[in-house]
Amino acid sequence: MKVAISSDHGGNNLRKEITDLLKELGIEYVDYGPDSDASVDYPDYAIPVANDVAAGKVDRGILICGTGIGMSIAANKVKGIRCALVHDVFSAKATREHNDSNIIAMGERVIGAGLAREIVSTWLTTEFEGGRHERRIDKMMDLEKQ
Ligand code: RB5
Repeated sequence: MKVAISSDHGGNNLRKEITDLLKELGIEYVDYGPDSDASVDYPDYAIPVANDVAAGKVDRGILICGTGIGMSIAANKVKGIRCALVHDVFSAKATREHNDSNIIAMGERVIGAGLAREIVSTWLTTEFEGGRHERRIDKMMDLEKQ
């Protein structure tokens, strides 16, 4: 398992928490920053992670901004990406089982570090269920072929 992670200025603190978690879990990751707290534009940080996931350079992506919303919208513009905006553990599990999400987005201004850690741990370790969910995903991904 290899993960790409980034944030904007609104997600820097939570990104640090999550990279600490990835280290604790022994999960290899590439961190796209940013390296300072200066104001940046979230698409500039979401798209490199989404491109890496779409190209198969990494297995999963983690995106953090103030709300998680801008990051998730930007990531979902990249073909092959299924980015889920998640702020609870139930949804973290369900979006892996049902949506085979390959990127998770969270908002540092929405949840605390403890919950975010549980969400990411759950999301990274939950398998896609396949079956009927595969058919539903195919119907969405087919839109990218048009
Ligand atoms: C930055 O102020 C904020 O807009 C951003 O972090 C994010 O919440 C956007 O969706």
